[in-house]
Amino acid sequence: MNIKLSNKELNKINSDIELIVVKDLKKLEKKEQKLLKKVSFDTKAFDTYFHAQENKFFVACSKLKKEDLKLCFSSAIRSIKKLNIKSIKFDLIQNDKELKIDELVEGLVLGEYEFTKYKSNSKKAKKLQITICTTNSKKEEEKLEKELANALAITSSVNMVRSIINTPPEDYFPDTMANDAKNIASQNDLTCIIHGEDYLQTNGMNAMFNVGRASRHESKLIHLAYKPKEPKGKIVLVGKGLTYDSGGLSLKSGAGMVSMKCDKGGGSAVLGIMNTLKALSCEYEVHGIIGAVENMIGGDAYKPDDVLVAKNGKTIEVRNTDAEGRLVLADCLCYAQDEIKDIDYIFDYATLTGACIVALGNETIGTMGHSDKLKAKMQKAADSSGELIGILPFNRYLPKQLKSGIADIVNSTASRAAGSITAGLFLDNFVKKENKKKWLHLDIAGAAYSESPWGYNSFGGTGAGVRLTLDFIKNLDK
Ligand code: BES
Ligand code: ZN
Ligand code: ZN
Repeated sequence: MNIKLSNKELNKINSDIELIVVKDLKKLEKKEQKLLKKVSFDTKAFDTYFHAQENKFFVACSKLKKEDLKLCFSSAIRSIKKLNIKSIKFDLIQNDKELKIDELVEGLVLGEYEFTKYKSNSKKAKKLQITICTTNSKKEEEKLEKELANALAITSSVNMVRSIINTPPEDYFPDTMANDAKNIASQNDLTCIIHGEDYLQTNGMNAMFNVGRASRHESKLIHLAYKPKEPKGKIVLVGKGLTYDSGGLSLKSGAGMVSMKCDKGGGSAVLGIMNTLKALSCEYEVHGIIGAVENMIGGDAYKPDDVLVAKNGKTIEVRNTDAEGRLVLADCLCYAQDEIKDIDYIFDYATLTGACIVALGNETIGTMGHSDKLKAKMQKAADSSGELIGILPFNRYLPKQLKSGIADIVNSTASRAAGSITAGLFLDNFVKKENKKKWLHLDIAGAAYSESPWGYNSFGGTGAGVRLTLDFIKNLDK
């Protein structure tokens, strides 16, 4: 898809079809009203109708606000893709209202996405040309162009994250993730350090090292950094990059293992965010730290009953090798706080618990932390970005569930109660005192991947966490 702005009059723009957003049928010409009524066009359901004789494409949107507009444009593009059409034009002003470029671009680009890499009969998709007529806009051209460029940077990163998540584990393993990180770094002037298993062992990162022991792929610790001149502050993003989670010796069931390529969702989101900062001229120093590991079985696998020593010296009794994400994150959190001083915000992203899906569903990110103020700030970013978060509360009674008879803590509690929160509290053991109120844990187990399409997500990876975090960073300046 290629989207451009034009200040030519709409009727002077050459295009196969014109897209018309229908808020209220009554506002259309009588002839068109009649036509749409005949096909039971529902303005509340983002219905679409192509009037071939007139080259007009109608899409319904009963409210022209944010999420509605995104859903409207994604509905339109999905229908248009099925037609043999090469170009579309539309006026930025619809129903006497100037639409927001970032919102409609999100709908178009995220709605159009499909992962076809492994379809042998997938036709080479023709590039749709979309022209937005801005003649009647009240905003300056330069501002509109900037809005378009930013929206394209964000949405292309989201789609990149989706494709990384969707790539099968045979083709995407820790080294692939490290190579992606290197490429993203070179395209965005980031620094990039990759550490292998020797580093993990010599630096006491045994929790992370042991998870990857049985895999034929070497684990990789990835550290990307974006460092603008005179940064306004420092943000650290830590991602769970399990390129596959078989469960390890506490093996998942057949059905439970399907889709576990999504377990790299947190690390992939961190890659997506790091890929967008330069384009958005971010004024904060941002570090992206990813634990890229494959959790497999084999003679060399780590075992339930093992006791692992994490980078901060804490000992962990392994009771379930399928609770591996928290082991990887434990060491990555320690690494981040040892390497980076004066942190303002530290967030971790992880497809950490099935319990999060039980609690919040497949759309909502479970959000945990010690600072109500910070959680409220993240909620604001959720509201404005369109990503959904739900706060899961820590309390003083749950930490005792993590007690171990033999070590400092267990990696998996005896009871399933509050499984997402006890996982969050496990991670809390690896957050330094001075960073407690700066930390948020984002459990994206449900939101990162979906077996069926919802909203402007197709089935598979969604890119959860990218828009949310970029919005959070943008709002810091306000
Ligand atoms: N990667 C899974 C969590 C997950 C489940 C992500 C479903 C996406 C969809 C994680 O490593 C895991 O297996 N967690 C266990 C923890 C348990 C053993 C304490 C779980 O949720 O069952
Ligand atoms: Zn697991
Ligand atoms: Zn996992």
